[in-house]
Amino acid sequence: NELYAVVGNPISHSKSPRIHSLFASETGEPVEYTAIQAPLDNFAGAVKQFFDRGGKGLNVTVPFKEEAWQLADRRTERAENAGAANTLYLDEDGRLTADNTDGCGIVRDLVSNHGVALKAARILVLGAGGAVRGVLGPILAEHPASITIANRTVAKADALVDLFTPVAGETALSACGFEQPSEPYDLIINGTSASLQGDLPPLSPKVIAKKTVVYDMMYSLQTTTFNQWALEQGAQIVHDGLGMLVEQAAESFRIWRGISPATRPVIEELRND
Ligand code: ATR
Repeated sequence: NELYAVVGNPISHSKSPRIHSLFASETGEPVEYTAIQAPLDNFAGAVKQFFDRGGKGLNVTVPFKEEAWQLADRRTERAENAGAANTLYLDEDGRLTADNTDGCGIVRDLVSNHGVALKAARILVLGAGGAVRGVLGPILAEHPASITIANRTVAKADALVDLFTPVAGETALSACGFEQPSEPYDLIINGTSASLQGDLPPLSPKVIAKKTVVYDMMYSLQTTTFNQWALEQGAQIVHDGLGMLVEQAAESFRIWRGISPATRPVIEELRND
C-alpha cells in the first residue's frame, strides 16, 4: 500500500483517516492513510520525515496550513491565492508541492450536493481569517454578483478585499463590520470561529429571508450555533460543513490518485456516526 496521512496538532479527532479509508475501499486504490501529530515547533521536520520514508501525500490541518504553504517549493494557483495549503505531495522532480482543496470543497458541496446557484448570487461571508481566505478564490470563480465580507476586525476584511480584487472580475467585493448588512442575502457563509467560544456574530436578522441559504463551515453532530440562530430568524435552508470536509478530501484524493471517489455515500456514512 502507498502511504498518506493528515498532519495537525491536535489530530485525534480528525475525520480524514476515516474518509480516505472509505474512498480507498470504494475505489480499490492501494491507499493507507494515518494521522500524524506534529510538534507545534517542528512541522517541517514531520513533513520531511514522512516523505523521506516514502510517503506519497499529506493533508494538513490546524494549525499548520500557513506553514505548509511557506514550506512548499511550489504552489498551485489556488494555493497561492489561499495563502494556506491543505494538500502536499512531491511532483515528478521531487519538489514539495502545495495545493489547497478547501475552496473547491465548499463550492462542490454548495453547487453539486445542495443545488445552490452561486452564479449571480449575492453572498455574505462572515469572518476574514484563514478559513475564509482559503475559499474566496474558488467562490469568485463561480461569478457571484457580490461578496460582502463582514468581520469583527474590519481591517482584516478590507485586506481580503484588496487581495482578491484582482481576481474578482465583475463580482462586487466589499468589507464591513457585522452590524452593517441589513438586507437579505441569497447565501450567507459563516467562516468565523465564533461558535468555538459559544459566540454569535452580532448580525441583523434582516440579512435572512425565507429563501436565504445559510452555510456554516463548521460541522458538528448537533445543529451548529450559527445555523440554530439562522433557523430562529426564519431561514429555511441551513447546511453545515460536513459535505465540504468530504469534498475537500475527495479533491486531495483525486490529486494524489487520479481518481475522483463518489462522495455522497461517504457523507451519509459520516452523518450517521
Ligand atoms: P480560521 O483558520 O478558523 O479562519 P483565524 O484565521 O484565526 O482562524 O480566523 C478566525 C475568524 O473568526 C476571524 O475572522 C475572527 O475575527 P477577527 O478577525 O476579528 O479576529 C473570527 N472570530 C473568532 N472569534 C470570534 C468571536 N468570538 N466573534 C466573532 N468573530 C470571531
